[in-house]
Amino acid sequence: METVVSGIRSTGNLHLGNYFGAVVNYLKMQHEYNCYFFIADYHSLTTHPTPKNLHENVRQILSEYLACGIDSGSATVFLQSDVPEVTELYLLLNMNAYIGELTRTTSFKEKVRKQPDNVNAGLLTYPVLMAADIIIHKATKVPVGKDQEQNLEMTRRFARRFNTLYGVDYFPEPTAFNFGKQLIKIPGLDGSGKMGKSEGNALYLTDKPEVIRKKVMRAVTDSGPTKENQEMSEPVQNLFTIMEVVSSPDTVRHFRDLYNRCEIRYGDLKKQLAEDIIVFTNPIREKVEEIYNDNEYLRKVVRAGAEKARESAAKTIREVREIIGFKPF
Ligand code: TRP
Repeated sequence: METVVSGIRSTGNLHLGNYFGAVVNYLKMQHEYNCYFFIADYHSLTTHPTPKNLHENVRQILSEYLACGIDSGSATVFLQSDVPEVTELYLLLNMNAYIGELTRTTSFKEKVRKQPDNVNAGLLTYPVLMAADIIIHKATKVPVGKDQEQNLEMTRRFARRFNTLYGVDYFPEPTAFNFGKQLIKIPGLDGSGKMGKSEGNALYLTDKPEVIRKKVMRAVTDSGPTKENQEMSEPVQNLFTIMEVVSSPDTVRHFRDLYNRCEIRYGDLKKQLAEDIIVFTNPIREKVEEIYNDNEYLRKVVRAGAEKARESAAKTIREVREIIGFKPF
């Protein structure tokens, strides 16, 4: 069975875009592949969280993924920092990662621009740690989006370089992977573009009903269709796109018909949409709260995950040390 590794950013709650773009993918993959899903908490240190924030962020995002249905019985769910073997591989890979290629990485250049007063070495070597995360389990598939393609390209490069340097065929070169043919891109509520945390246009799985209602009622629309079967403007199309993932086909058809007959009232559409989003998110939100406070359960999950992940990682480290030439006396 092929191995999948995915690192989950430990900051930022999940929004509908994350859910339909990534989480549904994980939910399908976990039964078909040998999956390692971890919270990338070492990586989060590049932004210097406080100890309290670090822990709370990890607990929150872990609770959210578990509440969504990530099954720690099928997938290996763990914290990056519970598998210190990855730091050893990171160190070893760093010896064959060059300053030039690291400084040329788009995400690094962006950080330099965005946070010029915190350009730490961890940021520079971020792709090396990410490569270590992936190849330490000899993964062949990584479920990442477009924004991570360059990092994955670097992972392949470091894996290939290791193999070439030592004349071995040890690490596979992993490729980006999506379960479905095309992932659903969920748009934001501001009329254009996709849903995102930094765009401020997101509906979070943990948003309370009143917050969801408020956000949806404020969503951008237009002045309404003036002729039958008129093509939809982007903001209106966006609301229908969200409706298609949370509402019943009958509901979607009903409002499409109203639109096509120029009888639509966007207020009614929004009210229905908000209620359907609430029906979808409410059980998840309640589950997140339950899991977040169930320390016993969380401890069990991460302990079992760490044990499985360390077993796989330790084997790789043993073999890598031997390949490199570390020999016991
Ligand atoms: N860089 C990824 C992101 O920002 C997170 C990540 C860290 C990751 N290590 C990984 C993703 C390993 C996939 C595999 O989303």
